[in-house]
Amino acid sequence: MKRVKVFVSLAAVCLFAAAAAVSSVSTAAETKKGKGQSPLERGREVYAANCGRCHGADGAGHTRMAEIVEPPDMTDAAWQRQRSTSRMVASVANGRGQMPAFKKKLSRPEIAAAVAYVRTLKR
Ligand code: HEC
Repeated sequence: MKRVKVFVSLAAVCLFAAAAAVSSVSTAAETKKGKGQSPLERGREVYAANCGRCHGADGAGHTRMAEIVEPPDMTDAAWQRQRSTSRMVASVANGRGQMPAFKKKLSRPEIAAAVAYVRTLKR
């Protein structure tokens, strides 16, 4: 009788562990595809992975790369006002000045999300 109880609780532990493993795997897969994420969260990720090295985490462009490519201060409200969102998306997709084109590396929604994130960097 005792053996059965041990077996049952062991089985329960295994089931629980398996369920936890399955759910963490699916969460990782969803994050990878950008599912279950708001566009802004996705934008923050895209920005951190592709844009921060030049523009800086805060968008002000105080990076080592910035000493070479001299990106604008994207936190500047006046700078932001002078640029429409569609122009920004086009610039990132096709490249502008020292900024490389991202259209082969990022999807259109990813670029739009990164630009939406840039809008939140305004001070
Ligand atoms: C290699 C460095 C570099 C990287 C990486 C980079 N940028 Fe830029 N970015 C620049 C430079 C330099 C400019 C200024 C271009 C100009 O006006 O001559 C710029 C300009 C911009 C502008 C203004 C464009 C306009 O229309 O005036 C936006 C918006 C922008 N970047 C967003 C991004 C986003 C979003 C990413 C990531 C997907 C990114 N940048 C990655 C260097 C970079």
